[in-house]
Amino acid sequence: MSNSEIEKRNLPIACFDSGVGGLSVLREAVKLMPEEDFLFFGDSANAPYGTKTVKQIQDLTMKHIARLAQTGDGIKAIVIACNTATSAAIGLLRETYTDIPVVGIEPAVKPAALMGEHPRVLALMTPLTAKGGKLKTLIDRYKDHADITALGCPGLMEFAESGQTEGEEVDRYLQDLFAPYLSEKIDAVVLGCTHYPFLKEAIRKAIGDGPAIIDGGAGTARELHRRLEEEDLLSDRTRPGHVTLLDSQPEKIELMKRLLAQ
Ligand code: DGL
Repeated sequence: MSNSEIEKRNLPIACFDSGVGGLSVLREAVKLMPEEDFLFFGDSANAPYGTKTVKQIQDLTMKHIARLAQTGDGIKAIVIACNTATSAAIGLLRETYTDIPVVGIEPAVKPAALMGEHPRVLALMTPLTAKGGKLKTLIDRYKDHADITALGCPGLMEFAESGQTEGEEVDRYLQDLFAPYLSEKIDAVVLGCTHYPFLKEAIRKAIGDGPAIIDGGAGTARELHRRLEEEDLLSDRTRPGHVTLLDSQPEKIELMKRLLAQ
């Protein structure tokens, strides 16, 4: 094995989100691969992405990933820890970064749809993810297994992004969101935006004890592990890895540390 191959597997993994939400994916990746180094970047200065155009999201995502890829000695993988940026830009990223794994996240519709006998599923996500062709394909794939409704939730990520994970305002938003569905038996709620896991307790309070609440963080971490293993890129170090937190709004770093520790 060449020196460059040995070095490549000890490079950091770049992890990207429109803001602090991607930390819900990063914490799963760190749990699964504690010896890896991660370079997390949140674009809080430009959040939310979910109400932007596809072109705007592609431009921002490509610009930030290009910068992360040039940090230090480079990166060995890219994780787009943002359903919205995945929906808009994953194809472009995979065309551009052909020599490293590029892993995205999509709403965890599959595990929800395969839960029990024809479950009733509410999938929460940003307006852009809800409109996207990727989601339509995903829902079409499982429409015979489950009754799935995709709900675009403008304004919901902002609570997590500002560190407001509970309180009257959050409760009121969620009560209004779920009000039309409370007379039905809901089997699962999918958290299809990486900010939403930080609002899970408030969502549980609003929807009640019945439905399963499912997010894609752990599944994305497993997919990252699988891709690194396949490419022989898992770190061979035994020491705990470093997590570097960066944000286009540097004052977010304290909130990021708090959320990552949750
Ligand atoms: N965290 C993001 C997601 O997973 C997007 C939130 C936003 O910027 O609108 O979709």
